[in-house]
Amino acid sequence: MTIKPLIAANWKMHGNMSWRNKPAEFNALLPTAERRHLDVLICPPAVFLVPLADKRGGTDIWLGAQTCHDQVSGAHTGEMSADMLSDAGAEYVILGHSERRAAGETDADVRARVEAAVKAELIPMICVGESLEQREAGQAEEVVEKQLAGSLPDDLTDYVIAYEPVWAIGTGKTATPGDIKSMHAFIRSRVWPTTRILYGGSVKPANAQEILATENVNGALIGGAGLEMESLAEIAKAAPKGS
Ligand code: PGA
Repeated sequence: MTIKPLIAANWKMHGNMSWRNKPAEFNALLPTAERRHLDVLICPPAVFLVPLADKRGGTDIWLGAQTCHDQVSGAHTGEMSADMLSDAGAEYVILGHSERRAAGETDADVRARVEAAVKAELIPMICVGESLEQREAGQAEEVVEKQLAGSLPDDLTDYVIAYEPVWAIGTGKTATPGDIKSMHAFIRSRVWPTTRILYGGSVKPANAQEILATENVNGALIGGAGLEMESLAEIAKAAPKGS
């Protein structure tokens, strides 16, 4: 089964208006003709979706948001609906990132947002992953299984899973190749044969090749190393031609 790898940058709360030129910068480093075997996605702070969408031109770089509200519209000060994000240029939306789960987002919240995203024709990227305490207690699979069961609507077809062990995010620590392989195999048994399962957590040029070559790893969700186009392009170059 060949799945086109997805290399996704999560900019979190970083950037400014000048970052609208980053898709062109990335394209100069790795032109579309050299990356037909993979998809590249940038998820900026939502306020920069419009300028990035205006400037991405023919770069074939997808855009995504970092969350969405579960309602279409209404009295929800400070929130943005999936339709608005789609209107602003997003094709994907990250949902249930561990930084949001840590701030109180539950599986049920994530599921409601996933449903809203699908209605707005955004492809949801649902993040799952265990804490260090949970891994050390031998509960990693149990935790991920519960998150998958609670966050995915039953009839979901087109979506991406990002497995991000919480202890590996922004820490410089990555899971061992063996741990990644076994967790991704476990997730594969719970999703479609064609669902992309990304790995996330301190992915960088130095470890990308090994991670991206792991069975059932169909791309990466990248935080820190996705802010600079040089490192993002290096990671993208490490993606195998079909995984
Ligand atoms: P990191 O972040 O690559 O900086 O560890 C990954 C993420 O949070 O998606």
